[in-house]
Amino acid sequence: MGERSVDGLFRRAAEHAVRFRDGTSEIPQKPRVSYLASLEEFREPLPIEGCAGPGVIDELVAKAEPGLHTMTGPRFFGWVIGGSHPVGVAADWLTSAWGQNSGNHHATPAAAAAEAVAGNWLLDLLDLPRESSIGFVTGATVANFVCLAAARGDVLRKAGWDVEGQGLFGAPPITVLIGDDAHATVFSALQFLGLGHDRVVRVKTDDAGRLVVSDFVDAAGKVSGPCIAILQAGQINTGAFDDFDRIIPIARDIGAWVHVDGAFGLWARACPQRSGLAKGVDGADSWATDGHKWLQTPYDCGYAIVRDEEAHRRAMTIAASYLPPSYEGERDPSHFVPELSRRARGFATWAMIKHLGRDGIAAMVERHCRIAHAMAERLRSVEGIAVLNDVVLNQILVRFGAKHPDDEADRFTQRTIERIQADGVCFCGGAIWRGRKVMRVSVISW
Ligand SMILES: Cc1ncc(COP(=O)(O)O)c(C=O)c1O
Repeated sequence: MGERSVDGLFRRAAEHAVRFRDGTSEIPQKPRVSYLASLEEFREPLPIEGCAGPGVIDELVAKAEPGLHTMTGPRFFGWVIGGSHPVGVAADWLTSAWGQNSGNHHATPAAAAAEAVAGNWLLDLLDLPRESSIGFVTGATVANFVCLAAARGDVLRKAGWDVEGQGLFGAPPITVLIGDDAHATVFSALQFLGLGHDRVVRVKTDDAGRLVVSDFVDAAGKVSGPCIAILQAGQINTGAFDDFDRIIPIARDIGAWVHVDGAFGLWARACPQRSGLAKGVDGADSWATDGHKWLQTPYDCGYAIVRDEEAHRRAMTIAASYLPPSYEGERDPSHFVPELSRRARGFATWAMIKHLGRDGIAAMVERHCRIAHAMAERLRSVEGIAVLNDVVLNQILVRFGAKHPDDEADRFTQRTIERIQADGVCFCGGAIWRGRKVMRVSVISW
């Protein structure tokens, strides 16, 4: 403490980070200690006197490392998350070091400019309407929230109601049409917005988790008044895509706002060999996706993309007399997200796109899909192992003991997942799919 140069402190942190990251392919793909052991490690009374910075960093590393999961490791196939690419991490370090509060472009022109440019690059990469606005948020959960806030405002405005000003009290009811296999966080976003996670019309899905078009037609036929239709690019378990070409025009016919949750699947658009999976998705009104999944930025990084910039701004803008106004052509990052003060998320996104380039991103997505396909084929060739999904993207659903009665196969699958996780050679998680235990394999880390 009291030292003016940050040199020693920052180098120390960098050395720890380099040692950790260089070792992740060698160490088991699992935390070495449990949560309770980590808690014991960190537990101590509130410090009364401060400690020197380098010592704090050394102690943090010593306490944290045993409880870290090698999520950036080469054999991590859990959930569906990216690998915090070193270039993104380096840009993110600078973001922290620069300490920019990136709410408006006057305060931090560089942060606002990097976001504006990276945002345009994202629209090019994902081939979405170029007039769309983008909010750089913490992840797809908040991206879904922001997009659905814009949707709520717009459909109610068209029904003569100003929800931003008057709230939902007395507002015309909104019908939300959503697939039965939508991601849990979309229901959370509806809950945050006062639309209710249960007050929705759940539309039947097929065995891959895609909306059944005829059921969507029936549900749409019963709608009168404001409506939001929520579709999906990349089902969390199967990687399947809704049939946008057929469903979006039906939703349009009833005047619905169409939102797409594409946390990872939207990145198929960045890959010529896979973009057909999301054909027609550009016909929607809003899209949620993540940077910290297929773009490999570090956490937290997601994008709320809205075709109608005015609807997006109306839902999110924060105005105060001490905040400078923005004019045409000047983009304030805070106008598109819920937060005012926040880190400058655009730098890491800019750096990752600059590093990989359009071709590098396309090649990475395709490589992951091919690896997933090859893994699925290998697994399928083993007697007693079943792959339950058509591996169109990067997700594999595996069941062990598949020739045995269902309950036995459930137990066998569960025990296999536990053994794999205990071995630590690789990491795969579990889930319930169609009432049965499955192992999920997500190939998505750089
Ligand atoms: C389809 C889908 N939607 C939303 C989310 C939530 O994203 P995040 O965890 O980045 O908030 C996920 C996360 O896995 C997802 O797969």
